[in-house]
This record gives sequence, C-alpha cells and structure tokens, in this order.
Amino acid sequence: MDDQARAMRVFSGIQPSGGLTLGNYLGALKRFVSLQESGVESIYCIVDLHAITVWQEPGELRFATRQAAAGFMAAGIDPGRSILFNQSQVSAHAELAWLFNCVARMGWLGRMTQFKDKAGKNRENVSVGLFAYPTLMAADILVYHATHVPVGEDQKQHLELAREIAGKFNHDFGVEFFPIIEPVIEGTATRIMSLRDGKVKMSKSDPSDMSRINLTDDADAIARKIRKAKTDPLPLPDSLDGLEDRPEARNLVNIFAALDDRDPGGVTNEYGGKMFSEFKPKLADLAVAKLEPVTSEMNRLMEDPAEIDRTLGQGAKKAAELAEPILAETYGIAGMIRSR
Ligand code: TYM
Repeated sequence: MDDQARAMRVFSGIQPSGGLTLGNYLGALKRFVSLQESGVESIYCIVDLHAITVWQEPGELRFATRQAAAGFMAAGIDPGRSILFNQSQVSAHAELAWLFNCVARMGWLGRMTQFKDKAGKNRENVSVGLFAYPTLMAADILVYHATHVPVGEDQKQHLELAREIAGKFNHDFGVEFFPIIEPVIEGTATRIMSLRDGKVKMSKSDPSDMSRINLTDDADAIARKIRKAKTDPLPLPDSLDGLEDRPEARNLVNIFAALDDRDPGGVTNEYGGKMFSEFKPKLADLAVAKLEPVTSEMNRLMEDPAEIDRTLGQGAKKAAELAEPILAETYGIAGMIRSR
C-alpha cells in the first residue's frame, strides 16, 4: 500500500429499499471491491435510517437490509477486511446528524434536486427526515473522518452539501476538525441508465421492472431484459464519437465495458459496424457470466439470516469504536458537557 492509500479512509452507503440493481452493482459495489483490494481502509454501510425517510414495511426493510448485506459480500466485500454494518446499529450517525441539522441551513436542503424530485408537489406531506436526508448523509461520512466517498453521479450534490456542512462547522467553531471530503465518481459506470429510456437513471423505484436488471434476476430474466432493451436501428459505430446522440446505445456499450473491466472505446472498436441483434446476445452472455455467480452467492448467504445479522453486528461494533471518539470530540467542540 502506498502513502496515499494509507492516508485515505473510504466510506460509502447503499439504501436497503427495494433490491439492488445493476446500477448499484457497477456504480458502487464493484468499485467498493476494487478499493478494498487496493488495501484502502473502507467502511460500508447499509443505510436503514435513510431508507425510512419514505415508508418501509418493517418486515420488508429487515429483509432488504439482509439482502443488501448479502449483495455486498457476494460482490466481494470481505467483512474481515472492510467494515460492513447497518447504520441504525451505530447511534453516532444519528447523533452527529442532529448537530449537523443545527449547522445546515433550510435553504441548502431545499435546493437539493433529490428532495425536490421525491417531494414533488407534496412538500407539506413528506417526512421531515426526507428533507434532512443530506445532513444524515454528511454525518455518515464525517463521523469517521472519512476522506473519500465512492458513489454514482446521482450522489454528487449530496456530497457537495456534506463539504459545505463540514466547512461551516469548522468555520463556526474556529477549528479544522472535519476533513473536506473527496467524492470519487470515476469510471464508465457512474451513471447506468434505464434499459427503456437512455435519458433516465436505472433505478429500483422505476415502475417498470424491464427498465432495470436486479441482482436477484436469473439468467433468463437478464437475457430477456437485454434483448428487449430500447436501442436504435443503426449499427454500432466504431468509435465513441458516434454515440453522442444515441443514449440507449451508449448505455449498453457502457454496461458492456463496465462488466468486462475495459474502456468503452475498446467495445466500439470490437463491435463497430455490428447490429444490435448481434451485440445484444454477447452483452447478455457477458452479463449472465458476471452476475450469476453474484446472485447465487447472495441466495446462498440469504439461507442463513442469523449469520448475516452476526456479521452486521460485528461490523457495527468496529464502526462504533471508530465513530465514538470523533463524536465525543465534536460534542466537546460544540460546548456539550461530557462528564462520563
Ligand atoms: P442508493 O442506495 O440510491 O445507491 C447506492 C449507490 O449506487 C449508486 N447508483 C448508481 N450508480 C450508477 N448508475 C446507477 N443507475 C445507479 N443507481 C445507484 C449510487 O450513486 C450510490 O453510490 N444517499 C445514498 C446512500 C448514502 C450514502 C451515504 C452514500 C447514505 N449515506 C454516505 C455515500 C456516503 C443513496 O441513496 O444511494
């Protein structure tokens, strides 16, 4: 490990609401595994407190939390090397979030596009938690003094806000306590798009199941979804320039590249001039070859929920040991008496 890796601490989170998608896998999980493999200290969190900012059926939340944990491990996160836990088991997250609620400004939160999209015209009736979502996210990261946050493109605005919160806290109290975090939004998979519309993100909340590949899909479902994916009638171009105004084609090339760990340019080099009728079966074979082992390992892990719970509990213990001294120091800076 080089000096730079030693000075880094990675934190990232995934919501346990609905299942994991190919977007989560390529945009987050696969990249988390590379970071773990490079030896960087990494903390990964299943953010159940974020999930409940919109209604979750308790039984489904419990299932989805275990399933997300299984997804992390099946993708290659080793709880012996990275810390893996669910957020609500480490109370420091919620405590620091409260302090940050008193640092962040209403205007900052009101400008968040995710809040505006999710609340829509219904602002008066959404939960207070949905509005305060980004302060909890800032707390998740900063309670560990994490330096780097690997995420997909859709999280960029939230991370900018986390930087603002850290900056305002440091400024208000005249300290250099919280690090200014670095979003890590890199690679070809930072924005995997819907299979039905190349202009919207692949998402677990899309009403059409055909728009996404779920990590629980079997080989037939994956092949069917790729076969039916929206494309255009033109052959693939032999360079990426030819994909500029072809979002659906660009998306399939990106998915191919990300699954196969290569540049999208290499994919257009190889398939330039070929029709989608030829490319799609190749993509489907690749997707099945890469995803099937993950899905079957997830299914195997899900057979023993008690073991998953134990793993999360052990991860939470390690996470709490890192977070508690930082939280205690934060309280001290803010003038709270700590006499225990
Ligand atoms: P969530 O649960 O929506 O998504 C988890 C991760 O997957 C990425 N992702 C995608 N990447 C590429 N293409 C897609 N179509 C796609 N869909 C999802 C997301 O960018 C994310 O990296 N607010 C966060 C969870 C969170 C968090 C944090 C993240 C809470 N606290 C602290 C980082 C640090 C969320 O809802 O992610």
